[in-house]
Amino acid sequence: MAGLMSGFGSFTHAVVRALPQSLAKEALRTGSLEVDLLKAQEEHDKYVSVLKHRLGLEVVELPPRTRALPDCVFVEDAAVVCGDTALITRPGAESRRKETEAMKAALTELGLSIVEMTDESATLDGGDVLFTGREFFVGLSMRTNQRGAEILADAFKDYAVSTVPVQDRLHLKSFCSMAGPGLIAIGASEAAQKALKIMQQMSDHNYDKLTLPDDLAANCVYMNLPSKGDVLLHCTPEEFPESAKVFEKLKDHMLIPVSNQEKVKVDGALTCCSVLVNRKKNI
Ligand code: GLY
Repeated sequence: MAGLMSGFGSFTHAVVRALPQSLAKEALRTGSLEVDLLKAQEEHDKYVSVLKHRLGLEVVELPPRTRALPDCVFVEDAAVVCGDTALITRPGAESRRKETEAMKAALTELGLSIVEMTDESATLDGGDVLFTGREFFVGLSMRTNQRGAEILADAFKDYAVSTVPVQDRLHLKSFCSMAGPGLIAIGASEAAQKALKIMQQMSDHNYDKLTLPDDLAANCVYMNLPSKGDVLLHCTPEEFPESAKVFEKLKDHMLIPVSNQEKVKVDGALTCCSVLVNRKKNI
């Protein structure tokens, strides 16, 4: 089995997508809170600005296709990138399938080796895929099925792939993510802790855990960047005061609180809004 991927968390590019006006009314959602489109736009602009200006990533911004793809800002679901390979997914929600077209074009342009999930019995959302740097965990959810996990395993043969049942949440990463090499951020709920236990049982590796009182706060974005070191985009104290305090204890990380109050109303989390890629600059 592969050890920790060299350069885990090291990225040069981020693919993001403009927020469509149709998001407020038409994006899929499990709740019923009204989205303030202007606030959502401001929030997304700040997220992109952090990637571009604060962290110095090259940001590729895909056009929104305003009406047709209300969920398209959540680019993570359209592709899984690991090393030089990009798996273009077959999203579980039919209304989201065409989001992959622009993503495929962008990742091809970045010189990645493209694998497409064409099997019509397979579904997979990137939000269900947790790459730890050593292995993949794939959530079997209302969006991702066993066949999707098998195709992912075929695409990334260097790494073990284990599946984890996801119930009562949209995606696996609705309650977990990586907060550093070997460090899994995990929500405190019973469902999240149960999923972590399954992951630990299936793994040959010992992971450290960072438990967040709020499941949604356990979705954070880890990077390791030249001249910045360990970087973590995480929830703001306004959204999740108790969870923010847990992040604030990570003294070795550059901590960047990023607001996600509007996009969360349509089940968007911090990892959902970018696909991070490691390429040499100026391809
Ligand atoms: N609104 C994000 C999703 O349901 O896929």
